[in-house]
Amino acid sequence: MVRTAIAIAALMLSAGGALAQGTALPTGDATAGEQVFKKCTVCHSIGPGATNKIGPELNGVLGRTAGTLPGYNYSQAMKDAGAGGLVWTPETLTKFLTKPRDFVPGTKMTFPGLPNPQDIANVIAYIATFSPDYKPGAAPAAAPAAEPAPATPAQ
Ligand code: HEC
Repeated sequence: MVRTAIAIAALMLSAGGALAQGTALPTGDATAGEQVFKKCTVCHSIGPGATNKIGPELNGVLGRTAGTLPGYNYSQAMKDAGAGGLVWTPETLTKFLTKPRDFVPGTKMTFPGLPNPQDIANVIAYIATFSPDYKPGAAPAAAPAAEPAPATPAQ
């Protein structure tokens, strides 16, 4: 079972990492994403020595529950979203960055969103390079993977 899970994880990694989970998300380019992230740097920092600015610093944000970075003063809306189970993954981040205030009504992130899906995929690929511990599919919502159908041999 464990070996099967590892094999699947390896397969997903070889197929393009965080963005290849059988979804329709475009593949992101981290280098292009660094340029897109310039739209975020007025409020966010990322990388070595990043600190909270108008928004929270974004190191390790993939796989983290929304609104939970210690020391940052989130809106009640973002804290509620996290308490309701929102975890940042390429999928949820895609929705949030498309229209932040539609996805988390009441968020204090006063950014209108990125209209181009490729820009979103690229910026997420860039952010992912600062979330080294994030494993695709390791978010709490994917827990059923640990409980395969009974009596079915792994292969
Ligand atoms: C005008 C300032 C501003 C801009 C520009 C901005 N953000 Fe934000 N961002 C915020 C604020 C403020 C919050 C906290 C939201 C809350 O508490 O409701 C936030 C929250 C977030 C979160 C949730 C973090 C967490 O710990 O839950 C992510 C992820 C994020 N922003 C990504 C981005 C990205 C990527 C961009 C650029 C495409 C961007 N933001 C642009 C201000 C901004």
